[in-house]
Amino acid sequence: MSNWSVKFFVFFELLIFSSFAKCGILDNSIEQFSYKLPSGESICSVPDNLVKEIAGYQDIVNKIIDEITNGKFKGQTWDSLAELTDLFGPRMACSESLEKAIDYAVENMKEVGLENVHTENVSAPFWIRGYESAQLTRPWKKNLRLLGLGSTIGTPRGGIIADVIAVESFGEFEKIPAEQVKGKIVVFVPKWKGYGETVVYRSAAASTAAKKGAVAALVRSITPFSIGSPHTGHQNYEDDVKKIPVAAITVEDAEMILRMYRRGQDVTINLEMTDFNKPNCITRNTIGELQGTVHKNESVVVISGHFDSWDVGVGAMDDGGGAMISWKAVQFLKALNVRPKRTLRVILWTSEEQGMVGAHQYMEDHKSQEDKEFNFFLESDIGTFDPKGLDFSGNSDASCILKEILKLMKPLNATEYKEPTDGGPDIEWWSKRGFPAASLLNKNEHYFWFHHSDGDSMNVWDSKDTLDKCTALWAAISYVIADLSINIPRTLVSNN
Ligand SMILES: *[C@@H]1O[C@H](CO)[C@@H](O)[C@H](O)[C@H]1NC(C)=O
Ligand SMILES: *[C@@H]1O[C@H](CO)[C@@H](O)[C@H](O)[C@H]1NC(C)=O
Ligand SMILES: *[C@@H]1O[C@H](CO)[C@@H](O)[C@H](O)[C@H]1NC(C)=O
Ligand SMILES: [Zn+2]
Repeated sequence: MSNWSVKFFVFFELLIFSSFAKCGILDNSIEQFSYKLPSGESICSVPDNLVKEIAGYQDIVNKIIDEITNGKFKGQTWDSLAELTDLFGPRMACSESLEKAIDYAVENMKEVGLENVHTENVSAPFWIRGYESAQLTRPWKKNLRLLGLGSTIGTPRGGIIADVIAVESFGEFEKIPAEQVKGKIVVFVPKWKGYGETVVYRSAAASTAAKKGAVAALVRSITPFSIGSPHTGHQNYEDDVKKIPVAAITVEDAEMILRMYRRGQDVTINLEMTDFNKPNCITRNTIGELQGTVHKNESVVVISGHFDSWDVGVGAMDDGGGAMISWKAVQFLKALNVRPKRTLRVILWTSEEQGMVGAHQYMEDHKSQEDKEFNFFLESDIGTFDPKGLDFSGNSDASCILKEILKLMKPLNATEYKEPTDGGPDIEWWSKRGFPAASLLNKNEHYFWFHHSDGDSMNVWDSKDTLDKCTALWAAISYVIADLSINIPRTLVSNN
């Protein structure tokens, strides 16, 4: 591509941007590091001096990686996470154990010398899991393992005994007349089609069933694999629809019930739940920093994971791992005495599981100055298994720079670049508005085997080395982004 044609495309971009400006784009930075072909395809054209600048970080990146995976920090991320989960257990929003774990994090961050360590209040939904029991009473007796879904109400006192309707999909349920559903327990048994597509059954089962007069809903656990344990998660009641109790049952039981129902066997379940909701509690986002040598309160690089978990297992994987690698990455950089130009801010989000409540509050509280305050957002919430690279969301200029930075991660074999798929829920508030944001890409093939279940423990990792590698990648990437001579480019959309 000649100089002339590059200029032509820059001009072309400007035309496009000026027409966008009317519909709310704030800083339409001129494309400098990429250009678009007439076909729309984006080609990187990062200038030599910036390519050289980024390549110049290889030595420091190697040192960071080496110290974390082989040097004095080896094994520490795993050990710290084991200590956290052994001390406090699961960290459900509004629980005493989460608040104690937050106090412990604050104390620890101060002890290791992180700066500006503090918490910011968040008002969060307060749901209590009560006594939960389900028994198949016909065609034969079997206790069904279950977990009420977050925000579910309980059954009437003494429980419900009702006949069952079992369906595989909402489409199938739609065809069943309301008079057949009235007074029944509806069991939804969706096939696993990936988390995003399947989780709608967890979110919407109760209200979908209630609209036709069902007395309760049960859902096949949202997982591709099972050895008999239910997986919980949040669910949403629609406004103006009667609230009915809803719980997840195991894949094995759900699929058996569907077979029985389709065969014409009479299926009856006795369900008792005493779950209930209380007025919101106050919980906290936890913040610690390594303040920049040049920029303190502006162009901050956020590195984050959520600190809350469900109340089953110990939340080691979801999202103790993501929270811990973010915290340790900044702690180890501080200990190595490598301080970037911009501030690195660890944020351990609270109440993610109830719908990114902590991140939403943070977004609201920092909205008035956000375009000055933030440069980049990193989040790990889709597993901390062996790292592969980054899932990125941002404009094409930013993407070209990220690809250059990822080349530095060869020593970790974590150079893969991907546009976002799953993950990144807490930073979505900002990525949707055009802030550059990345999520940890990792070998998480079995993530949903453990997700929101009793299996979410320190045993999801085969080796301590895995967490070291994630922390190393996180530290190296966040350091380079925070130290670069330029802010990562972006195209912001209005936040009004
Ligand atoms: C945060 O909440 C606590 C109550 O949990 C309250 O005592 C404190 O004043 C609040 N802080 C701010 C800054 O609102
Ligand atoms: C940084 O920002 C916070 C609030 O946004 C403010 O309280 C503080 O004074 C600022 N610090 C500096 C050094 O500007
Ligand atoms: C590096 O990662 C790729 C892709 O994840 C994998 O196929 C390859 O075996 C890895 N190489 C090493 C040396 O680990
Ligand atoms: Zn999570």
